[in-house]
Parts: sequence; C-alpha cells; structure tokens
Amino acid sequence: MESIKNVPVHVSIIMDGNGRWARERNRERVFGHSNGVESVRACVEAAAEEGVRYLSLFAFSEENWARPESEVNTLMELMMKSIAEETDSLAEKGIRFIALGNLSRLEAHLREAIHGAELKTMPPEGKEPRMTLIVFLSYSGKWDIMQASAKLAQEYSSHPQDLASAPMSELEKHLVTAGIPDPDLLIRTSGEQRISNYLLWQCAYSEFLFVDKMWPDFRKEDFRAALAAFSNRDRRYGKVK
Ligand code: FPP
Repeated sequence: MESIKNVPVHVSIIMDGNGRWARERNRERVFGHSNGVESVRACVEAAAEEGVRYLSLFAFSEENWARPESEVNTLMELMMKSIAEETDSLAEKGIRFIALGNLSRLEAHLREAIHGAELKTMPPEGKEPRMTLIVFLSYSGKWDIMQASAKLAQEYSSHPQDLASAPMSELEKHLVTAGIPDPDLLIRTSGEQRISNYLLWQCAYSEFLFVDKMWPDFRKEDFRAALAAFSNRDRRYGKVK
C-alpha cells in the first residue's frame, strides 16, 4: 500500500453510531458498544503503524451520564475490561495510555485501573512514547474551559488586574489537554455533523471529517482513508497563502 504523506500529529475521533448499528441488527445498544471496542483496537493499531503521535477518543461525555443506568454501567465495564485486556499490549508497543476528563465522577475502582494503566504504559525517563492514546471520559469542552478558568482566576487572585491582558497560553496550561498538541484531524462517524461539546477550545483549527459509517464498522482501511483525505486538505489558519 502507498504510504500516506503529511500524517497528522494528533487525530481525534468522536466514535458515534454504536446504538444505531445495534438497532439495525435488532440488538441491544450495548452490542454496538462492545463491537465498537474492536474498532478502537483497529484504529489504535492503524494510527501507530502510520506514525500518528496522538490518538484521542471521545469515549464518554459529561452528558452521557444521563443515559439509562444499565448502559452507563456497561460502558464503564467495557472500559475496565479494555484496560485489563489491552494495557500490556499497549506497553509492549510503546503506546502510552492516558485518560482525561472529570474523572472524579468515575467509580474508584475504574480510576484506580486507569491510574495503573497510565503508570504501566509510561515510557522510561527521557524516552518518548511511540504514540499517546488519550481516552476522554466524563469529558465536555465547556466543563474543561470552566475548570481551567477557575484555576486561572485562582492563580491571578493576588493580581487580578493582569487577567485581562493574560495571553491565551495562560488558560491553555490549565485545560486537561495542557502539553498535548491540538487535534489536526477530527473524525466523527455515523453521518452526524456536530461537535457535541467535545474539544471546543482545542479544535479551533482542526480539519473535520464526517464519515457515514457507524463506529463499529469503522476499521483500519477507514482510518487510513481518513488520513489520506487529510493529506489533501489546505490548512491556512485564517491566513492567505
Ligand atoms: C457513541 O455511540 C458511542 C459512545 C457513547 C461510547 C463509545 C465507547 C466505546 C466504543 C467503547 C469503549 C471505549 C474504549 C476506548 C475502550 P452512541 O451510543 O451515541 O450511538 P447512537 O448515536 O447510534 O445512539
């Protein structure tokens, strides 16, 4: 296969359509989520193979807490199971795992499992990971901007007169994504074309790609096709070329 030029540094995915995929097969929504885990595995592999440095996945939003309790529980169990099954393989492949979001809302055993996976996949001192896999859990873009603003206000509480002239980097350093480059490419599956309170600040100049396939059908070849589509985009960042 021809190698892809201009590979994005950070690819982010809104994994949408699990419920509809299951319904089309007369199955429960959770059947879609469990098949979606296979797509996660495929995209992690494809991203690492193609040289993507950061792959981030919107796995559970702050709004998703309002779903039926049984679905929320299944999603949390799938996260636990995936961490238990995949951590060693991620570590072997040099892929660092991190989870970002309002993690205080998660149950303690899941937070502990996440922490364990983060430690196990952390590269040795001075060594860069081959790729960083970021899973956004209990995350929303507005929540992130709010929590960062609160920290910024606290930081400036002794000299509030400087806040109005503070550079944007002062807020950025308090976002949960501090130190992570903004997504170059944001993919959303299922044909829906919206951002759903995801990385609102960080996607200011991301290229968006809306794909009609449901997430459980989105596999390696689709990921590679998305990278190929990105390589033809002309990014101007509001400037003239
Ligand atoms: C959106 O589909 C998908 C989710 C809310 C959950 C995504 C989670 C997984 C794929 C499993 C676990 C993740 C990892 C990283 C191991 P939807 O339910 O909103 O579908 P619908 O729009 O068709 O109802």
